Formats: sequence, C-alpha cells, structure tokens
Amino acid sequence: MNFLHYPVMNKEVLEIFQGSAKKLFVDCTVGAGGHSYHILSVFPDARVIAIDQDEDSIALARENLKDFGRRVSFHLGSFCDLFEHFNCRQLAVSGILVDPGISTVQLKKSQRGFSHTVDGPLDMRKDRSMELTAADVLNSYPEEKLVEIFRRYGECVEAGRLAKKIIEKRLFVRFQSTVQLRLLIEDVTHWRPRPGLLHPAAKVFQALRIFINHELDGVESWLEKIPLNLRAGGRVIFITYHSLEDRLVKKGFQRLQLLKKVKLLRPFPSFPGAEELAQNQASRSAKIRALEVA
Ligand SMILES: C[S@@+](CC[C@H](N)C(=O)[O-])C[C@H]1O[C@@H](n2cnc3c(N)ncnc32)[C@H](O)[C@@H]1O
Repeated sequence: MNFLHYPVMNKEVLEIFQGSAKKLFVDCTVGAGGHSYHILSVFPDARVIAIDQDEDSIALARENLKDFGRRVSFHLGSFCDLFEHFNCRQLAVSGILVDPGISTVQLKKSQRGFSHTVDGPLDMRKDRSMELTAADVLNSYPEEKLVEIFRRYGECVEAGRLAKKIIEKRLFVRFQSTVQLRLLIEDVTHWRPRPGLLHPAAKVFQALRIFINHELDGVESWLEKIPLNLRAGGRVIFITYHSLEDRLVKKGFQRLQLLKKVKLLRPFPSFPGAEELAQNQASRSAKIRALEVA
C-alpha cells in the first residue's frame, strides 16, 4: 500500500476521536485515505463515510481502503453539503473530520495544475465537473478582480503589479501553463531564491486555487449547522492550512461555544510536533481545532 500522502496530525486526530462513541465517523476530505485508514484500524467497531469532491481522490482512497470492505462507503461531493445528504443525527455520527486543501498526490500530478514546481496546464479544479479553470481567470478577468483575488486569498503584497503584468502579457499570449505563470511572478517580484524564503508563486497559486474551488464559501454556514446535526457528544475536528480558513473556523467554533451549543476540546489550536515536522514538511502550516456538541 502506498498512501503518498502523510495524514497530518494523525496522532491528535485519533486522540480526539478516542473520547467519542467510536461507531461512525465522517471523513469529509478523504484524499488518499490516510486518516480513514488509521481510524478504521484503531477503532475496530467503527465505520467511515468517506467524502471527497475530487474523483481521483475517491478512486485512490477506494484502492487504499479496500481491505476494510463494507466498513467504509465513498461519496463524491463537497463536505459543505454533508448535512443535506446524510442525516448525521439519525445515523448517530460519532465524529467528523475535515482536512481540506489539497493532498500531496494532487500537488504532484502535473496535469492538475496545482503546483508551481511542476509544469502543467493551469487548471486547479478539484471537482472537474466545474467549468472555470485558473487559465480562464487569468485570460479573461478584469485587472481589479485579479488584484482582489490575489489580495484576498493569497494576501499577496505585489497583487497590483502582478495583475497589471498579466493584463499586459495576455494581449499577446494566452496563459496556459503553470511554469508560464511562475516565471511571470518571478519577474514581477524580482525573485532570488534564498534559504527559508517562500517562493512568491506559492501565495498566488494558493489564491487562484481558493477562488476556483470556492474553498472558503459555505464553511461558515456549515459550522453553524453542526449542533443541529450531531447528537450530544459528537466530535468535530477541523485542520486548517492557512490563516483565512483558520480565522473562519476559529470564529465559527467560538460563536457556537458562546451559544453554549458546543464545548471546545482544545481552547487553543495545536500544531504538528517536531517529530511530525521532521517526517513531513508539508504539515508545517497545519493547525487542528476540535469541539464536542453539548
Ligand atoms: C489534505 S487532503 C486530505 C488528506 C487525507 N486526510 C488523507 O489522510 O489522505 C485534502 C482533500 O480534501 C479534498 N477537499 C478539499 N475541499 C473539499 C470539499 N469542500 N469537499 C470535499 N472534499 C474536499 C481534496 O480534494 C483533497 O483530496
């Protein structure tokens, strides 16, 4: 078995779920199936509903989790629609895990266009039934809209100059490849690699990915539905990878706590420890938050 993606903060996920009824879990973002694999292995009476909006992820998870047979079922779609498709209260769901963003497998597949480090088409859609690609945005959106996307979703300092350059460039050539965009970003930001310095394309790619996939839309209202849709004692774990998403989750959790509908299992987020960071650099920006329905 080859997961290719290391399940982030897996030890903490299992610790938190240990305190639940351990019967039925929803893995909202199954990816390569790493977290589900451990949940099913450690809790022998548990079943998992595994969701992902990317059909390649579902196919990979199906393969990686095939030994668990009917203990796991797979569903293609966004976790934001979970409560519309499943009556989690009636099913007595013990725990829900959300580990969004993208997996290492998706990042490394050049044809998906998620990474500035491999050449591929500027696609970036997780759900490929959606129409808009990153190339469509770069080739057709007005300058102000590009600035807004780069600022809001990437917190890019050079948003204005980058958008201007894109508009100038596309008069002559269409944006098609990840490398083409990376080179333009390097030019605009006068990039000189230095140890420990994040490549400026990382933030721009993140911004386009969040925008294309509506990553932040629906999270707030989804969080609000938790108390109505889980029984008392049900646990929810949310792993975030960037400050925009973390802010949403933090505020959503705090609101529910103020209304006394949930209790926070960790007053502050936890981060990957030194051992995990040594094994998996990709986990460096992760934060885990967890609650239990009151
Ligand atoms: C970081 S990976 C999850 C890795 C997984 N926990 C594991 O251990 O292998 C993120 C996954 O979430 C999926 N995803 C992101 N946003 C989603 C959403 N709104 N609904 C469903 N799946 C989503 C992505 O397609 C990707 O497969």
